[in-house]
Amino acid sequence: MSTKQGHDAANLITETFRQRTHGSGEWDTRAKESMPGGDTRAASYYTPYPAYMTRGEGCFLYDYDENQYIDFLNNYTSLIHGHAHPATVSAIQEQAARGTVLGSAAEVTVEHAEMLCSRVPSFDSVRYCNSGTEATLLAMRAARAFTGRDIIIKMDGGYHGSHDYVQLNMQPDTTEEGLPRPKLSSRGVPAGTMAGMLVAPFNDLGALRDMLRARSDEIAGIILEPALGAGGGVEPEPGYLQGVRQLADEFDVLLIFDEIMTFRQDVGGFQATIGVTPDLTSIAKFIGGGLPLAAFGGRKEIMAPFDPTHPMTIPHNGTFNGNNITMAAGLATIKEYEADQVARVNELGQRLRNGLNAAFQAAGVGIRAVGSGSIIRIHWSDGKIRDARDAVAAQERAQELPGLLHLEMMNRGIFSAPRCQYAISTPMSEKEVDVAVDVMGQSLEVVMPYVQEKTPHLTLG
Ligand SMILES: Cc1ncc(COP(=O)(O)O)c(C=O)c1O
Repeated sequence: MSTKQGHDAANLITETFRQRTHGSGEWDTRAKESMPGGDTRAASYYTPYPAYMTRGEGCFLYDYDENQYIDFLNNYTSLIHGHAHPATVSAIQEQAARGTVLGSAAEVTVEHAEMLCSRVPSFDSVRYCNSGTEATLLAMRAARAFTGRDIIIKMDGGYHGSHDYVQLNMQPDTTEEGLPRPKLSSRGVPAGTMAGMLVAPFNDLGALRDMLRARSDEIAGIILEPALGAGGGVEPEPGYLQGVRQLADEFDVLLIFDEIMTFRQDVGGFQATIGVTPDLTSIAKFIGGGLPLAAFGGRKEIMAPFDPTHPMTIPHNGTFNGNNITMAAGLATIKEYEADQVARVNELGQRLRNGLNAAFQAAGVGIRAVGSGSIIRIHWSDGKIRDARDAVAAQERAQELPGLLHLEMMNRGIFSAPRCQYAISTPMSEKEVDVAVDVMGQSLEVVMPYVQEKTPHLTLG
């Protein structure tokens, strides 16, 4: 295969995208005048520019140039019922007509809280905020307040949003050997925040034990996603989360699950599936029915200081906390996500994983569809991936392949996360899943010259 063919394949994919999305390209040029990068969220950016989506209906999206896509992004897993679900739309319309936020306590917030506490095993009581970032920040603050200790352990490659304390080791350093060293992931974060954090490798109970043994009297808690999301998509090994729970108990530190992405896995979240109950949990994404909402909650005695009349209260504010319209949308949405729907989307997720893996095999490409439930991720290797460093190293070696596959699938009507993460929504059926599998097969044919030339380690013998 000549160098030219790999290069040509990449150019063809990008050029086709530009032609199909000409109107989006014009908006992008205009947007760059008023916003750095032309957009306002790093995760939704991809090259050459993000398509402008103008409307969503069920599991379909339409861009500015009227191209139709099956939406497997679902706003990064946060749209469990796709777009404009009738029950959610009615709830929003009814509440909008009575005021969006009334600046006072609301029955609908109580109903939402009761619903969450009845579903999530670790929620004795819950408080609301407007983003997952705030929810992890407040869960960490609750752990520090309860224990009177400062340090929180996070995982290498763990993603918990945009607040300062979690802007370290968001992406693992793949050049490093041995245990991950704490490293800031963003400029502009005070170096001092690192004094309040330690970093452990995911799926490694031995390293966690050593860390706890060395400094348990300074450690307030451990925060982790039950399955790593943004940091490479890594599932817990059997017994790992149970082991983390045992270590937290043994060393008397709090366990915080960040279930912001994994909550859709079960009616009560990933914790319900695996039977491990953390002390605190943060959730977000679909609980607001497509409007911004997050929650953190846990054991009564840990959450008690959020009561403003508590003698040692932790002030918790937010102008839009528990606002009526978001709570109404969220409640209507959650009510439609019962065990039967959970089982359905999880089965479709498995169908997509199986189908994609068959497509990779048929194309002779050594990559793998992984994940659990209704979230499907790609490992850019057919070897063992145990932690974030393994996953990200494999992705780095795949160079432009994830981006090219993502763009070519868009050219063929499948929208996903730029890192090729897929999420099922309830309006989908086997038909949409099978279309995505077919499109993956066609897209692999287009990228094959690139694979053979640039990433030959991914071709199967
Ligand atoms: C596991 C996890 N934690 C925290 C966040 C941050 O949530 P938000 O983007 O609502 O601030 C996300 C967002 O994707 C997430 O996946």
